[in-house]
Amino acid sequence: MEKISKVSRIIRKLYYIIFIENFSKKISYNFPPNYFRWDLIKYLHEKYKFNSYLEIGCDKNQLFSRININKKFGVDPSSGGNIRKTSDEFFKDNKDTFDLVFIDGLHEYTQVKKDILNSLKFLNKNGLILVHDCLPESMSKQAVPRYRMLWNGDVWKAIVDLRQDENIEIYTCEMDQGIGVIQNKKNTSILQISKKIKELKFKDFYKNHKEYMRTISIKDLQEKF
Ligand SMILES: C[S@@+](CC[C@H](N)C(=O)[O-])C[C@H]1O[C@@H](n2cnc3c(N)ncnc32)[C@H](O)[C@@H]1O
Repeated sequence: MEKISKVSRIIRKLYYIIFIENFSKKISYNFPPNYFRWDLIKYLHEKYKFNSYLEIGCDKNQLFSRININKKFGVDPSSGGNIRKTSDEFFKDNKDTFDLVFIDGLHEYTQVKKDILNSLKFLNKNGLILVHDCLPESMSKQAVPRYRMLWNGDVWKAIVDLRQDENIEIYTCEMDQGIGVIQNKKNTSILQISKKIKELKFKDFYKNHKEYMRTISIKDLQEKF
């Protein structure tokens, strides 16, 4: 986890509010209080019997230690997992393929998009990619540069970007900070927006997040997967 001094947090916050956006409304999600990313993976694993798992960004192995899949790779440049590299370094030399990938590394749009596209290249047929932190509740929780501890980053922009690709199918499950569910197949609901990704603000997300992210409940997800 990046350590940011109090002074630099204040400077970054002022910078964001003055030059990028100042929007105070919050989104209230109905995330179930007792259903987390490991519960979703357990559900999917019981159904699909995955043989291989890749986690990008492992931190203290909060999730990685709960994964009960034969072949598991955890990539993190600082802590946890079993491969001490950045995701870019890992993918550069990687030859393995995976049934399930969980993306939770650097939570910035460009990196998340790269992590998703690289994961798609190494995804087995009928494999799944999950992306953590897709549904921020406030402007501050998604601000880049980061200025607070509890932070989702602008992961949501990578989802909005790729929801416009006709060959990537994406939903976002309303649970545990928002989990993107991605498949390598024809997009059955292509998103069309007029703004460029770099022009999008939290205010746009606030108004359109259901459509942008194609949000579904856990119940809906369990009917589809
Ligand atoms: C939010 S934590 C991961 C939490 C964990 N997956 C969980 O489920 O609780 C993010 C992690 O991403 C790592 N990270 C940062 N930049 C990365 C990069 N470029 N590639 C891979 N991991 C990265 C950080 O070191 C940090 O441990």
